[in-house]
Amino acid sequence: MTSMIRVGALISGGGTNLQAVIDACEAGETGAQVVFVGSDNPAAKGLARAERHGIPSFVVDYGDIIRRYRQDPAGVHLPSDFDLAEMRAKSRLFPADADEAVVEAFLATRAAAENGLLAAMAAYKFDLLILAGFMRNLTPYFIDRVNTDPEDPRIMNIHPALLPAFPGTDGYGDTYRYGCKLGGCTVHFIDYGEDSGPIIGQRAYKILPGDTLDDIKSKGLKEEWKLYPDCIRLFAQGRLKVVTRTHELPGGKTMTRKVVAIDA
Ligand code: GRF
Repeated sequence: MTSMIRVGALISGGGTNLQAVIDACEAGETGAQVVFVGSDNPAAKGLARAERHGIPSFVVDYGDIIRRYRQDPAGVHLPSDFDLAEMRAKSRLFPADADEAVVEAFLATRAAAENGLLAAMAAYKFDLLILAGFMRNLTPYFIDRVNTDPEDPRIMNIHPALLPAFPGTDGYGDTYRYGCKLGGCTVHFIDYGEDSGPIIGQRAYKILPGDTLDDIKSKGLKEEWKLYPDCIRLFAQGRLKVVTRTHELPGGKTMTRKVVAIDA
């Protein structure tokens, strides 16, 4: 076994995925150890999980930054290397008809918050950053500073649906309301879009006729708790490679997409 990789985690809420990852790491199942936990939310219950396991944690209060920006944009400190035009050009978080004032406020507040995350994370060496119920979209400002080698991404996210179906904040609700007969969860590397990056792993569960939304959530979370440690183990083993694949489509068009190839 090669040496353990170091994993940082960002959370927003209860942190049951974080707990599953910590437990799998402590059981020696991943080849990884969790070295810090960060949150955008001072009230995140998952922070207590980190404390119980002796893992250092920090909070960057996104809500506070956004409130202060609304009151007085000049009162929020933007990073000196923040380039709004560059971020606007790179980000794929916004629809084509987005209101540019809203986009600017979003990118500025997130860059200010992300600068805080990066400053706190600088205290730790880490190989992989996992988003474990982190309910904030990350902008290119943050992503480029963590993915220093664009060919070798190292930010993973877990999403509560079988992507590319149902990106966004309510994967289980969307799955339920659509009348799906299978639901699932996905771990992927993040890119500049929302839940759009290369897929690493997926697990599925059956949806039965009487299932409620709560049933779907509870089935889904059980799969998430297995999937995330599995994907971290593959990363720790150096078995995940992002490759670019191009396919010919009917009508002479081509489709190019970055996908994850998993070494046997
Ligand atoms: C999970 O369903 C995860 O897929 C989604 O948010 C939820 C977080 O749950 N992104 P927890 O905080 O890990 O319990």
